[in-house]
Amino acid sequence: KLEAVIFDLDGVITDTAEYHYLAWKALADELGIPFTREFNENLKGVSRMDSLNLLLGQAASPLSLTEEEMVQLADRKNGLYQELIEQITPADLLPGIPEFVADIKQNGIKVGLASASKNALFVVKRLEAEHYFDVIVDVTTLKRNKPDPEIFLTAAALLGVEPGNCIGVEDAASGVDAIKGADMFAVAVGLESLFPHADVVLPDTSRLNLNDLIKQFAG
Ligand code: G6P
Ligand code: MG
Repeated sequence: KLEAVIFDLDGVITDTAEYHYLAWKALADELGIPFTREFNENLKGVSRMDSLNLLLGQAASPLSLTEEEMVQLADRKNGLYQELIEQITPADLLPGIPEFVADIKQNGIKVGLASASKNALFVVKRLEAEHYFDVIVDVTTLKRNKPDPEIFLTAAALLGVEPGNCIGVEDAASGVDAIKGADMFAVAVGLESLFPHADVVLPDTSRLNLNDLIKQFAG
C-alpha cells in the first residue's frame, strides 16, 4: 500500500535543472570547455563537486588544478546559480505540482523531499512550498550521493514508512537508479529513452496523477 511519495526538487518541483545547466554552461564557456545540453544530462542529480569533475573531463586537454582551484570553480558555479534562484517565486512551481501534492495529502499519504542540492531549502522557501513536505532530507548528513539509494532510504526512515511502500519522482537517470536501489517505485519525468530503469515515464509534471500512479503501483 502506498504510504509516501518522495520527490526530487530540481527539475521536478521547479525548473531549477535549467538554472544548474545555465550556471555550468557559463563556467564551461569561461574555461573554453565544450558543454552541451546532451552532456548536461549526466550532471542531473549529481553533486556539485562530482559535476565539476565531469565537466572538466570534457576539456580538450586535461587541466591540472589544485584542490583550492577546484573549490573556487565550484564556488563560482554556485554563485552564478544562486543569482538565478534569487528570482524564483511560487509561480515557478512546475505545472500540476500543487494539485498533485494536494491530492497526495488529501489521501493521507506522506510527502518527502530528497534533493542532493545544498540550495534545496532556499529554493523551497522561494517557492513558498515548505508546507508540502513532511520531511526534507538534509543532504549534509548523507555519506553517499545519488545514484546511491541513501537519500531516498533516509527520507523513508524519517517518514516512518517502508521503502517498498514509496513512490519516488525524478528527472535524472542517477535519481531513478537511487529510487530503484532503495526498492521503491520509480516515476521519471522526461524523455522515455533516458529512463530505461523507471517503472513509469511521464513526458512532464502536468501528467502526474495520483489515481493513475496508485493503479500502476499496485499493478
Ligand atoms: C541536484 C541537481 C544537480 C546539482 C546538485 C547539487 O542534484 O540536480 O544538478 O549539481 O543538486 O546542487 P548544489 O546546489 O548543492 O550545487
Ligand atoms: Mg532533478
